[in-house]
Amino acid sequence: MNIFVTGAAGFIGSAFVRHALAADAGCSVVSFDLLTYAGNIENLAGLDPRRHFFIKGDICDRTAVNEALPDDCDAVFNFAAESHVDRSILSADDFVRTNVLGTQVLLDAAREKKVRRFVQISTDEVMGSLPENSGESFTEASSLRPNSPYAASKAAAELFVRAARQTHGIDTVVTRCGNNYGPRQFPEKLVPLMIANALNDQPLPVYGDGLNVRDWIYVDDHCSGVWAAFEKGRNGAVYNFGSRCEMTNLEVVRSILDLLGKPYSLIKFVDDRPGHDRRYAIDPSLVERELGWKASVSWDDGLKKTVQWYDENKPWIDGVRTGEYRSFYKAVYGMDLAK
Ligand code: NAD
Ligand code: DAU
Repeated sequence: MNIFVTGAAGFIGSAFVRHALAADAGCSVVSFDLLTYAGNIENLAGLDPRRHFFIKGDICDRTAVNEALPDDCDAVFNFAAESHVDRSILSADDFVRTNVLGTQVLLDAAREKKVRRFVQISTDEVMGSLPENSGESFTEASSLRPNSPYAASKAAAELFVRAARQTHGIDTVVTRCGNNYGPRQFPEKLVPLMIANALNDQPLPVYGDGLNVRDWIYVDDHCSGVWAAFEKGRNGAVYNFGSRCEMTNLEVVRSILDLLGKPYSLIKFVDDRPGHDRRYAIDPSLVERELGWKASVSWDDGLKKTVQWYDENKPWIDGVRTGEYRSFYKAVYGMDLAK
């Protein structure tokens, strides 16, 4: 089996490549990634060169995509994206380009090369925000109500995937997941940012009152869900993946400080994110029933593994908290990153 994985040098894409190689011994992977600030070739280190090939390229570049996509390809997994909400608030241009145009370019190439299945990695954020303490959850029937430019670009991508199936008969599956955490996540996102700052005894910037709720899932559980959707999903289906792990941001940050033995006084409340979604919660009953998938990593175990990975990989963190990231940090938080 041959698969094509875009965004493979990012956080989830790289975990997925490892998952796919382990899940199917006959699987060969072409990893395709532009290596933006979020892509890191080190995330793919140590893979078997007989089964894994890396190609640097842009999913918006038709020629590069057509050249890289194998002729006998069983699936395209589109993880490539601009993925950070705060960056989409500063400027949405790259989000429209990569997340929308890039998805369409991949769909066109998949059609031309008769790829067996197109798997679009989407997000629960396309469904907007849920009322606090309502007990309500997102289901596959929830409407698209994106609130950030990032979420709007991902919702638009989903619609192009739908249109490609309806119009051109491409076999497609869309997966939507909640907040992932785990090793190798770029430290602009909540969990790795708080771990990296705590390790350096720097302030932990919490937006607003810290009571926004996210539904957390360990990255390997997300990857097994995407694989299950590829293997067993219905053509045209949308699947929501979650691990029933709702937590406020303050609870998340305090668990990180507890694990590292650092004081809560490091928490610094800062201005809220514009348009900040209050609550996400996913009802995973459809995938549990239809795909036989279930999350297997608890928050306590997943966070322990994550904190340990960052603690043991300080050169990885130092290597990415440089250059452009420092200007971004200053622009969002109004303060310098000390280290
Ligand atoms: P990430 O930012 O860590 O990685 C994105 C990768 O895409 C990077 O390696 C980057 O170099 C690559 N990329 C960006 N633009 C590209 C382009 N034009 N051409 C080729 N490659 C390009 O993101 P992530 O957190 O790993 O997210 C992966 C996917 O999963 C995204 O589609 C995201 O929307 C989705 N998702 C993420 C989460 C989460 O919590 N992180 C949750 C649900 C869904
Ligand atoms: O829900 C899935 C989505 O989760 C993915 O589609 C996105 O790619 C991913 O970035 C993530 O989006 P969020 O905006 O929820 O994640 P982030 O880690 O940026 O923020 C999580 C929560 O923490 C959110 O309520 C904002 C808050 N936050 C975040 C940062 C970076 C803070 O309070 N302080 C911070 O410095």
